[in-house]
Amino acid sequence: MQERLLGGQIALLINKPIRYGNTPWSSVPGCLDIMGVMTTDLRNKSNDCNREVIKVKTKITEMLGIKYPIICGGMLWLAKPELAAAISNAGGLGNVTAGNYDSGDELRAALKKTKELTEKPFGVNITLLPSFRITMETYDDFFRVCCEEKVAAIEVSGSPATKYLDMVHHAGVKIFHKVGAVRHAINIEKLGYDGIFAAGIEEGGHPLNDDVTTMVLTPRIAESVKIPVVATGGIADGRGLAAALCLGAEGVMMATRFINTEECNVHKNIYEEIIRRQEQDTTLICKSVKLQGRALINDLTKEILDLETKGAKMEELFPFLSGQRVKTAWQNGDVNYAALMVGQSIGLIKDVLSCRELLDNMVVDADKIIRQKSAYF
Ligand SMILES: Cc1cc2nc3c(=O)[nH]c(=O)nc-3n(C[C@H](O)[C@H](O)[C@H](O)COP(=O)(O)O)c2cc1C
Repeated sequence: MQERLLGGQIALLINKPIRYGNTPWSSVPGCLDIMGVMTTDLRNKSNDCNREVIKVKTKITEMLGIKYPIICGGMLWLAKPELAAAISNAGGLGNVTAGNYDSGDELRAALKKTKELTEKPFGVNITLLPSFRITMETYDDFFRVCCEEKVAAIEVSGSPATKYLDMVHHAGVKIFHKVGAVRHAINIEKLGYDGIFAAGIEEGGHPLNDDVTTMVLTPRIAESVKIPVVATGGIADGRGLAAALCLGAEGVMMATRFINTEECNVHKNIYEEIIRRQEQDTTLICKSVKLQGRALINDLTKEILDLETKGAKMEELFPFLSGQRVKTAWQNGDVNYAALMVGQSIGLIKDVLSCRELLDNMVVDADKIIRQKSAYF
């Protein structure tokens, strides 16, 4: 085992990555068989390889007590205990998305399950938007449960969590808000949050309708606030990690890339579709009704866009957007059945890796890139 300290900053035990290069993942031993079942354990294989220790230290690794400055963003129906624990065990910050659950008790059960699977820190996403399913009382419960269960961090999106901030801080839980604009970041800092997730228009999910890219948003927010900034939107590999650090971020958040991991519970058709599709294959739906979301171009999103051009109102679009549709599609692999939220980073995704391999690869690659490029100067 080799040990190395990256610029006095970067520390972790790393597995030498197994690289599949351009080999289709489905033809590689150790990938999924036709039923989507793992035929061999990739993690055991990679653990046999040469190991290298690189130390990573940023304000985010320090604040959250994690090995790598790599965070999973909220993912409705996908960010559940198994994936969260796998990411945290791999050195990042896993995410349990509160919206998967209908009550504080259900969320508590999920947090307890995550704690059974990992002793490492993990976070919770709470999306504070008006919802047919989640009442204000349930949101109160979500925050209370996160504080009682002492999760490492809460990722809030939507409205600011103003009324919960004292309780969260008192519990010693860190709280971040996901924003798409400098003005929102400044407001969030004033409210007393611990950090910002700067989300560019490339992201899957619901980017702000300012439509600013991660490349511009990250440095703009980093120069505008003192609290740590994490870049998100379009990041899927070590190149993105290196770039984000250079842009002034203290870490990265990813969601789309985590879909194509062994521990994310989706049908194998989803894996294959994400590998097959490219960066131009997403679209912004519901822009006309001011609730834009980035999703895969498919039969359903084309239909939604068609309705929008005909002036459809939100009520007419609702049936196409139901959460149940999306939940079903992730599981049955019908890639045309729902608006599948994915970001432009699908163009960068060429394989299915374990979370450990993904994170290890990213840090090794980022380290290499930063060293190579520093020789230019
Ligand atoms: C499948 C999926 C579901 C998502 N669900 C949520 C959500 O429920 N709440 C939220 O705040 N963000 C959600 N997001 C956005 C992510 O948390 C994150 O901000 C974004 O995806 C990061 O950019 P990337 O997709 O380029 O990795 C979702 C993203 C994806 C891909």
